[in-house]
Amino acid sequence: MTDFNDTKWLVKILRSGKPRDEILLKICQYLKTKIAHYDWVGFYIADPEKQVLTLGPYYGAPTEHVRIPFGQGICGRAAETLETILVQDVGSESNYLACSLDVESEIVIPVFKDGQFVAELDIDSHQNNSFSNQDRCFLEKIGREVAVLF
Ligand code: SME
Repeated sequence: MTDFNDTKWLVKILRSGKPRDEILLKICQYLKTKIAHYDWVGFYIADPEKQVLTLGPYYGAPTEHVRIPFGQGICGRAAETLETILVQDVGSESNYLACSLDVESEIVIPVFKDGQFVAELDIDSHQNNSFSNQDRCFLEKIGREVAVLF
């Protein structure tokens, strides 16, 4: 089990000097590999002018949801509310874009650069009630740290 307070791995990846998308992919790989209940980890990049999210680096099964208009699904709702959205049972959601029938819970963290919404970190889990407050704090911290890449 990963220590949620240890973010040395993140500092190391962020300081690697690699291009943004390589760094984001490494973060996805690390999270999915180290944390058993993270089954799909990806970033969506925001285009506030067009009001659309575009799939960025991700680690997990390919998804058909490569462009998500603001407002649609959990990701699109997080883009409108600009708040973390945590859904412990996706089956109970009417505004949800299914990637795989295996997914049961999902958390979406908006990323801000200088106060502007720039991206989202999206995590799916194959268990319901998967995400605790610890997950949320840990992922929101990652969201704050990756802002330097935008
Ligand atoms: N389930 C998301 C779509 C993205 S996938 O989980 C990768 C949603 O409802 O916005």
